[in-house]
Amino acid sequence: MQAPETYPNLDNEADLQLNEDGSLRHLLTLKGIDKALLTELLDDAERFIGPDGATAPHSHTLEGRTVANLFFEPSTRTRASFDLAGKRLGADVLNLDVNTSSRKKGESILDTIYTLQAMQVDIMVVRDAGPGVPAYIARHVNDHVSILNAGEADVSHPTQGLLDLLTIRQHKGGFENLTVAIVGDIRHSRVARSAAQGLHIMGVGELRLISPPPLAPSADEMPYAKIVDNLDDGLRDADVVMALRIQRERIGNLDGIPGIDEYFANYGISTERMRKAAPDAIVMHPGPMNRGIEIESILADSPASVITQQVTNGVAVRMAVLERVSKTMTTH
Ligand code: CP
Repeated sequence: MQAPETYPNLDNEADLQLNEDGSLRHLLTLKGIDKALLTELLDDAERFIGPDGATAPHSHTLEGRTVANLFFEPSTRTRASFDLAGKRLGADVLNLDVNTSSRKKGESILDTIYTLQAMQVDIMVVRDAGPGVPAYIARHVNDHVSILNAGEADVSHPTQGLLDLLTIRQHKGGFENLTVAIVGDIRHSRVARSAAQGLHIMGVGELRLISPPPLAPSADEMPYAKIVDNLDDGLRDADVVMALRIQRERIGNLDGIPGIDEYFANYGISTERMRKAAPDAIVMHPGPMNRGIEIESILADSPASVITQQVTNGVAVRMAVLERVSKTMTTH
């Protein structure tokens, strides 16, 4: 039987990700990254987007490097975009099939990491349901290895936060004068946390977190945001509206969580509801979407929706992050 692994909850994971000169060694969280570095990462990502809005063709800046995708939770967008991003930069990319890996035979996550490190993997992209896992791994790898957090429990999803910032900046030009409304299961959402952290660092005008009370964050977690439980109040004059799905896999007891019809009636984003927002408001969703629950299907496909662009930007952002950490990497 596999012994349970415990991961210390690190307060200093933000420090862990930066070299002494402030350059990026790992990407574990957006917390602790300053506005200048966030802006540089967004600018770098922009360079990978061609005039037609698609990501630019291949380059060779990661030639000779190996990227391993280690997804211990399901993913479509993040995993595929890290895979494409690595290949478009000329890296060798290994996608470990977790279901047929030796973790199923009881191997610890650290032994899995040490095994890949011995094969000269340079960058490990990690998604895991355990809080603290990316930082725990980052503490144990050799100097030449970088760890990128691709989704950590309900804690953090920094590359999603970056692609959300990039998409907002492309449409609105900046953050200072914006009202951003994030709607849905904020309490269990790593996407909401990374988006909120990034928006706060970039100096967003107003951030509203809208959800039914059982899915609201604690009042002191994000003191810079307004917690709202009425959707119409929260959407009023918003420039950006981001819908989130209910993270049922992270909710042990669904008592008190509204059923589908009640949820859509009270918290679903629809064309009708969007009339409360600013006339040129954009609609975002990180995916995967549950059409008809948190977002009306016709709205998701409407001109106000930038959901497809978020996906395209995800490749560019991950190219920018891979390139950035590879520049500060010591050779193995
Ligand atoms: N947004 C996001 O993380 O999607 P995936 O779970 O498909 O990677």
